[in-house]
Amino acid sequence: MSAAEPKQNPTPYELLGGQRALFCLVERFYALMDSEPEYFAVRKLHPDDLTNSRDKLFMFLSGYLGGPPLYHEKIGNPMLRARHLPFPIGKAERDAWLACMRRALEDTAIEPPELRDWLMQQFFGTADWMRNKQGDMPGQA
Ligand code: HEM
Repeated sequence: MSAAEPKQNPTPYELLGGQRALFCLVERFYALMDSEPEYFAVRKLHPDDLTNSRDKLFMFLSGYLGGPPLYHEKIGNPMLRARHLPFPIGKAERDAWLACMRRALEDTAIEPPELRDWLMQQFFGTADWMRNKQGDMPGQA
């Protein structure tokens, strides 16, 4: 960037600490999911080995938060709702996913709290839109 160019606002990816911080967050998210019984509603939908799930979430969030679009480059269009259709997702699964992510944000000391709250709002929108159980779809209370 030349000195004459205005400085861009930092992306959420930069604010949370870039690649290393994002990887720690995703690693913690799946470690919690794998060990804490309160997240079993989502754990049970995943394969035994979470390595692939972790890598895909890391690649997806990289682009979603304004960093390198790794998922697009390596896999393609995320089509997240379609990719989640094989898994029954209702409010219980949504809320377990979100609770696990909130705890991972706290454990990895993503600061300030306003950034964590903003991230949780974004994740809520995406997780809620993933609901696909009969009678428990997005837009249904
Ligand atoms: C709402 C509750 C959610 C549940 C129960 C859920 C569950 C799952 C499961 C079971 C998989 C398959 C894992 C695998 O094949 O290894 C998966 C994949 C994935 N999930 Fe979720 N998920 C949820 C929400 C989210 C949210 C909110 C995001 C993003 C912010 C997300 C991003 C992804 C990505 C990127 C993949 C990999 C897709 C692929 O390439 O196959 N998920 N999820």
